[in-house]
Amino acid sequence: MPALFDFESARKELSKKPLPRHIAVIMDGNGRWAKERGLPRVAGHHEGVKSVKAIVEGCGELGVEVLTLYAFSHENWNRPTWEVSALMKLLMRTIHNEINNLDANGVRVRTIGQIDRLPPATLKQVKHAIEVTRRNTGLVLCLALSYGGRIEILEAARRALHEKMTPNRLDEATFSSLLDTAGLPDPDLVIRTSGEHRISNFLLWQIAYSEIYVTPTYWPDFRKKELVDAILDYQTRERRFGLVSEQVKKKKSK
Ligand code: IPE
Ligand code: IPE
Ligand code: MG
Repeated sequence: MPALFDFESARKELSKKPLPRHIAVIMDGNGRWAKERGLPRVAGHHEGVKSVKAIVEGCGELGVEVLTLYAFSHENWNRPTWEVSALMKLLMRTIHNEINNLDANGVRVRTIGQIDRLPPATLKQVKHAIEVTRRNTGLVLCLALSYGGRIEILEAARRALHEKMTPNRLDEATFSSLLDTAGLPDPDLVIRTSGEHRISNFLLWQIAYSEIYVTPTYWPDFRKKELVDAILDYQTRERRFGLVSEQVKKKKSK
C-alpha cells in the first residue's frame, strides 16, 4: 500500500518560500479518465468534483488567496447537448451540496464569464452561493463559467467605449478593472491537467506573467498531493518579469 500523503508536512515545507497568491486551474481530462476505465464521460465529471473539493480545501489550508477554476468554457456550449446538460446539473447539485461547507470554511464564491447564459436553475444556485458567502474573508473561489478570454476582453473594450472613455485614460490598470476579474490579483500559477500544452481561451489578459505548470495527470486524479507538487515546482521558478537574473536577486535581497 502506498504511504499516506502527509499534507501537514508538505504545508510546512511550502511555507518556507512564497506561495502563489492566485492559482488558476484548467481542469482537463475528465473524459479521458472515464474512457480509460470504460465509463461514460459524465463519470469522469463526477469524479472531478471530488478533486475540486480536495483542491479548494487544500488551497484554503495553505492560505492561497484566490483559486480560479475553469469549469465551463465559452466553447464548451458546443459539446453534445446531453453533456452540457449533465455538466449544468452537476454544477447545480455540487453547489447545493457544498455551500454550507464552503461557507463554514470562510470561502467566498465569485464568478467570471457570462453566467447569464446558464440554465435558470443552475444560475439560481450560483447566485445563491455568491450571496451567501459574500462577506467571507477566506479563500476566494472564482468559478469560470461560460468563460472565454477573448469575449471577456471584447466586452471590456465595449464597456470602455460605452463609458465614452477618452483614449489616454485607458491604461492597463483601468482596462483590468473593466474585466470580469476586476479586483483580483493576476494568477501567479496556472495549472493545466491532462498534458495539453494550450491555454484554451483562459484568462488571456491576466496570465501575461503567470508561471505555467502542465501535468499529465487527469483532473479526477489531481488531489492535494498533486497540488503540493505543482506549488513546489512553482517555488523553484525565477520570475524575472523581463529583467535579468541579477536585478531580480538584488530586489529580493532588499
Ligand atoms: C474537463 O474535462 C471538463 C470540462 C471541460 C468541462 P474534459 O471533459 O474536457 O475531458 P477530456 O479532455 O475530454 O478528457
Ligand atoms: C478547457 O478544456 C476548458 C475547461 C477546462 C473548462 P477543454 O477540454 O474544453 O479544452 P480543449 O478543447 O482541449 O482545448
Ligand atoms: Mg478536455
